[in-house]
Amino acid sequence: MSTFDAAPTALIVHAHPEARSFSTAQMTTAAQALRDAGYRVDVLDLYSDAWAPVLDRAEFAPVEGHFKPQAEQQRAIKDGTLDATVRAHLDRLLAADLLVLSFPLWWFSLPAILKGWVDRVFVMGGVFGGDYGLFGDAALAGKRAMLLFTTGGPNESFQPGGTLGAMDDFLFHIHRGMLEFVGYQVLDPVITYGPAHLTEQDRTAALEAVREAVARTATTARATAH
Ligand SMILES: Cc1cc2nc3c(=O)[nH]c(=O)nc-3n(C[C@H](O)[C@H](O)[C@H](O)COP(=O)(O)O)c2cc1C
Repeated sequence: MSTFDAAPTALIVHAHPEARSFSTAQMTTAAQALRDAGYRVDVLDLYSDAWAPVLDRAEFAPVEGHFKPQAEQQRAIKDGTLDATVRAHLDRLLAADLLVLSFPLWWFSLPAILKGWVDRVFVMGGVFGGDYGLFGDAALAGKRAMLLFTTGGPNESFQPGGTLGAMDDFLFHIHRGMLEFVGYQVLDPVITYGPAHLTEQDRTAALEAVREAVARTATTARATAH
């Protein structure tokens, strides 16, 4: 049975330190577009929740000697001793049909707070490994994920041969190494290039473009769910 038969759930994990930023407005716009497309929307705002991104031994049951993070993650899943906040976030992740990572592009990648969310919540034994395999055998197989982000550089810099390099090339580590790795089918990213340089009028138009792109993606994801 499709996970999309009932109203599907989208989990948006948002990482921007400023509530008035374009990224945050973009996330709010995307959330409304998803609701309009029939999704139940769950938002995790990492900065406003003061999410602690650093994976270290303190979050696990006392570890004697050599600390092996993934072995401890598997043990915590098996023994039911996972850190309570990580467990709660993992449950929200597992309940979602669609995961949206929302962020400004920092150093061609995720802001550290969001990378640390992946480090701690994509738990070995909880979403891959242990009783699960990788990619198509991982826990999130059959679900969708997408990136929603902003850049400093303009669109043309991210084209093949552009000064910053082809966007698809450096999204690979997120698309393949994080999302597909735990089973997701990756949808096209929604990107706003250089929002810092937009006039008020262009900003409104850019948010409308985000709304349309997210609505299109969400509708396609529902129509093609299996
Ligand atoms: C630490 C840091 C690293 C950044 N790295 C990049 C980058 O690799 N590529 C890029 O185009 N912009 C980069 N930027 C610029 C941001 O992507 C840009 O300011 C942001 O996406 C604009 O959206 P906002 O107004 O919502 O913050 C970086 C900004 C910061 C603070």
